[in-house]
Amino acid sequence: MEIPFFPADLFENDRKVMLDLIREIGVAPEQKFILGERTRVFEEMLRDDLGAADVVACGSGTSALGLVLRAMEIGPGDEVVVPAFGCAPLASAVLEAGAQPVFADVDRRTAVVDPEDVAARITHRTKAIMPAHMFSVMADMPRLTEIASSRGVRLVEDSAVAQGAVLAGTPAGLWGEAGVYSFVQVKSFGMPGEGGAVVTRDAELGARVRMLRNHGQRTRFVHEVVGTNSRFDEIQAAFQTYRYSGFAERLARRADIADHYTSCFTPLPDVVPPPPGRDGRCYYVYCVQSDRRDELRAFLAARGIGSHVYYPSPLPEQPAFAPHAPVGEGWPGAESACARILALPVYPHLSDTEVERVADAVREFSGGAHDR
Ligand SMILES: Cc1ncc(COP(=O)(O)O)c(C=O)c1O
Repeated sequence: MEIPFFPADLFENDRKVMLDLIREIGVAPEQKFILGERTRVFEEMLRDDLGAADVVACGSGTSALGLVLRAMEIGPGDEVVVPAFGCAPLASAVLEAGAQPVFADVDRRTAVVDPEDVAARITHRTKAIMPAHMFSVMADMPRLTEIASSRGVRLVEDSAVAQGAVLAGTPAGLWGEAGVYSFVQVKSFGMPGEGGAVVTRDAELGARVRMLRNHGQRTRFVHEVVGTNSRFDEIQAAFQTYRYSGFAERLARRADIADHYTSCFTPLPDVVPPPPGRDGRCYYVYCVQSDRRDELRAFLAARGIGSHVYYPSPLPEQPAFAPHAPVGEGWPGAESACARILALPVYPHLSDTEVERVADAVREFSGGAHDR
């Protein structure tokens, strides 16, 4: 039996709910498919549960980042410091806003941005710093908050992968002036389609994002600012509202699996798990690092276990972003992460037997099977 990295049955238990919603919303007299009552209920549920001032559901996590940058009026002539290791929108959202991404290196062990390197790259042009939580570890938000306030720059939190994670009592998304979530299917609160949200403690910022996501309107056909179309789907809003009651339980199962992997892998000589504990950990995917990463991946594949390499190359070395990065500079932390990181299956409906199979295979690879 294969253990896929991306399971095909993520939403199987809720299939009937989805089909009923499609019918209900599809034939409802108001024929409202975007930004209706169900989106409002979904946003308010997330907002109240988090204790945020506003949650604005939008088209994707990428689009959420773009909306935040535009709401902060970040544009031509401005710089935004972003991690050199991470997802493309960290750089592309900044470029699309007309600003320049400035790439800071990441910590080798955790693959999250190094706050001191962020601080060193702040210039008189820097408008914002935009750290991202990585696959298993949240960025050092207490230190980044200090840096943002002492240097007078804005703090945008790319929490796309970290919904449900908490660091020092503060949920991912609420550390920055604004944070974002992605609901793409494999995320911790994924759904069967594209979607995202902006999360903020700043009601005014939330109101600007709300206007920008719908063509700059608060009142229909009154376009106060140049906006875009990044609206949220009513069927998905109702589906996510329904599924939210099981989110904490699914997250707890992911955390248990991650804890188990970490305790199994900590003694291994050449597979490095994320730091132990739950404070500031996120469980969208579970990443180990190894100098023999490609061998480990092949070893697991030969045993029917899927894994994934996020990301094979640093952002400033990608063809799209290299022209925006200083020539001749290296990002050794990002390069190390790209060469060593491997994500293992961690979705909540993995059975204990499957979890044990993954753990055993990694132990066997590392020659540690006899240590058990
Ligand atoms: C760190 C980070 N930021 C932003 C995004 C973008 O989210 P989306 O895929 O919903 O556009 C992702 C997606 O994986 C991500 O990992």
